[in-house]
Amino acid sequence: MIDFWTYKNELKIYKNIYFELYKKTLNSGQIFFGNNLEKFEKNFIKKNNAKFGIAVGSGTDALLISLMSLDIKKGDEVITAANTAIPTISAIVNSGAIPKLVDVNQDSLIDINLIEKTITKRTRAIIPVHLYGKPCQMDKLVRLSKRYNIHLIEDCAQAQGAKFKNKFVGTFGSMGCFSFYPTKILGGYGDGGFILTNNFKLYNKIKKIRFYGIDTSDKKNKFFKKYYANINGVNSRLDEINSALLNFKLTKLNSFINKRRKIAKIYDHELKNTSLQLPKKNTNTFDVFHLYTVEHSKRSKIRKILSNRGIETRIIYPYPIHKMKAYKNFFKDKKFINSEIKSKKIFSLPLYPELETNKVLLICKELKKILNNV
Ligand SMILES: Cc1ncc(COP(=O)(O)O)c(C=O)c1O
Repeated sequence: MIDFWTYKNELKIYKNIYFELYKKTLNSGQIFFGNNLEKFEKNFIKKNNAKFGIAVGSGTDALLISLMSLDIKKGDEVITAANTAIPTISAIVNSGAIPKLVDVNQDSLIDINLIEKTITKRTRAIIPVHLYGKPCQMDKLVRLSKRYNIHLIEDCAQAQGAKFKNKFVGTFGSMGCFSFYPTKILGGYGDGGFILTNNFKLYNKIKKIRFYGIDTSDKKNKFFKKYYANINGVNSRLDEINSALLNFKLTKLNSFINKRRKIAKIYDHELKNTSLQLPKKNTNTFDVFHLYTVEHSKRSKIRKILSNRGIETRIIYPYPIHKMKAYKNFFKDKKFINSEIKSKKIFSLPLYPELETNKVLLICKELKKILNNV
């Protein structure tokens, strides 16, 4: 059986280190807001060449809190890609904004040429999604956001360590939002997220929002008010145990990414002359392959045979946002053709750093056999 994803292979390698970190953290007497969080925040900011950053409870929270920091008002609009993950949209809706969708290109990323006609006087932000670990063309997006004076919030949940023109994603816009959900490029053992920003004002505000709206910047001051909310906030914390594990895993991030890219290269090479549509590579990008997503019109047949042969694949994502019950009222009569077509053809192959080369080659061999007969 080849799992689509499992943490068990990784655990085998790092188990002793993780147990040591667990033990040390439990003995430290700190559960939240301790040394591990402080270290991890510092290292994560440094790793991404950003100025400021705040760890939060999840990638969804990172998006929601970023939007909350912009003081969204009723009727404000936020634009994102029609094929994104549910949490991008739920964050927009929960912030009080109206979600506006833009269709995607052949590369599965937001079609930048279509954004302009979606911008209105009420547009407050654009959330480009670096889906599958593939960076959007950030120079064009930055120009657009400056021209219309709207915020750019990058959804980097699937793209930790990816670069556009040698600059890390998450550092182009007002904020970059990350997820440490276990399957992600930098995956924790539980939920977690991060917001990067180069804006000191936004940083201070986000820090308050993460912790019930309390201002903790001057805790040592005798006038510090412990249970006093300055603004409306939420509770979104990254705990000490997860911070310790993530801080360790951050030191391995480059090697995780290199391994992912190596596996993607094997898939590229082995599957290039088949009827599968392989991931489209853009110029000026350093892709990190959170997912290796291919397309085929006979997807269900191919996946079924693969599954019978012990190879698990997944569809990420099978339903475009505007087709879901929770959101379709926002997009009456709207069509996002590429997203709809892709949702019927895409499926992702197993790809994680510990997946052995012989297994990747076996997947390719089986796939080629199947493709010759469908
Ligand atoms: C594109 C995208 N945005 C946001 C999120 C939300 O992250 P989390 O699961 O950490 O809340 C995810 C994770 O599934 C994602 O893939």
